[in-house]
Amino acid sequence: MKREDITYMGAGPAALPTDVLAQAAEALQNYEQTGLGIAEHSHRSELATNILNTTKANLAGFLDVPSNYEILMMQGGGSGQFDATVYNIVSAWVEKQRQKILKERGEISEEDLVKELRKKVESELRLDYLVTGSWSLKASQEAIRLLGPEYINIASDARKFNNGKFGKIADESTWTLSPKPSMVYMCDNETVDGVEYPNFPKVLEPSESENDPFVVGDFSSNILSRRIPVQNYSVVFFGAQKNLGCAGVTGIIIRKDLLVSCPPLILRKLGLPVAPAVLDYCVTAKNNSLYNTLPMFDVYLAGQVLKKLLATFPDKVNGQQAEAQRKAEMIYAALDAYPEVFQVVPDKSVRSRMNICFRVIKGGNIDEAEKNFLKGAVERGLTGLKGHRSVGGIRASNYNAIPISGAEKLVAYLKEYAQA
Ligand SMILES: Cc1ncc(COP(=O)(O)O)c(C=O)c1O
Repeated sequence: MKREDITYMGAGPAALPTDVLAQAAEALQNYEQTGLGIAEHSHRSELATNILNTTKANLAGFLDVPSNYEILMMQGGGSGQFDATVYNIVSAWVEKQRQKILKERGEISEEDLVKELRKKVESELRLDYLVTGSWSLKASQEAIRLLGPEYINIASDARKFNNGKFGKIADESTWTLSPKPSMVYMCDNETVDGVEYPNFPKVLEPSESENDPFVVGDFSSNILSRRIPVQNYSVVFFGAQKNLGCAGVTGIIIRKDLLVSCPPLILRKLGLPVAPAVLDYCVTAKNNSLYNTLPMFDVYLAGQVLKKLLATFPDKVNGQQAEAQRKAEMIYAALDAYPEVFQVVPDKSVRSRMNICFRVIKGGNIDEAEKNFLKGAVERGLTGLKGHRSVGGIRASNYNAIPISGAEKLVAYLKEYAQA
């Protein structure tokens, strides 16, 4: 099988541009005529620092990241960030309260300080989760595991509004946010369920009050495909392995005022968890993401993808967004044209542009129809279309590396299958 014969629509790891991979293969053996490959050079060399800083600058440039944000590169994937966000936001929130008490009270013994903090923590520390699919569900479960259910509020569970299944985002008026949430967590694109927020939620728009929650967004499966209102978030994170590069490096865009942490001794006295150093945003920022050995090949690859995107789209992410939209519209239109053959899973209002989830209902026996559909797809070089094992069905992942011609190839097959 040749690479050019395949349109791979797997949900991640995803396909990467062939020219970027060809160049990376060379860099793996001999990076810029240094006689040594990129994975062999020291992560503390000038050459590695240049790669890291260029990748960060290109990411900031492509997404128009405001200057009061810092970019971090970490390991541990999106799942690592389920933990990192909890540890770091709890610590930053407690530190904010600690500073407030110190300012108001001036001299205070550590014992009294801890007593006051404990009261605050018990009455006000609340992490709110908007559960709109399998990944935000998993993040909320991890938060409960780390902190305890008393601190976690599921402000919305989309399944309650859609017959027990994911596929809708409930109206904001139904969300039960805490009175003063410390954090609100959302997943902008739910990879398994094909649900994407059409817009940033109105109720979370910053009010510039000191009570604004820290808003966290998981963009693992739609980063670089849409404009992000970065200033509305405290933290945006994404594993690289879908639109940015290969698995192994995770990007974090963090507002700089969040780069504060509470002394571990105080957190321990409050019974709250202390971040492991490798998941600590402050430690990572202080060391320009080089606290420990960063996988420089992964950073290099992400940098090359960004370089190509910047060269392809003069209006940066807006250009890529328009292309993603065009491809998604084309595929959904083909599915909608044959309602007796295909059934799109999520509600029309929240259809993901990245992960297009549908069922094949032709003939009534769904299992049989989907088996046949997938078999025919593979014969035509369309691979990776099987839905996530937890939900079944078909999922076409329309990431950035899928060219328009790839989307057209899928559309042609959808029509051919429907008309057969
Ligand atoms: C939206 C989203 N968040 C988090 C994750 C978990 O990422 P990882 O496998 O890098 O831990 C995934 C994985 O596919 C994802 O799609």
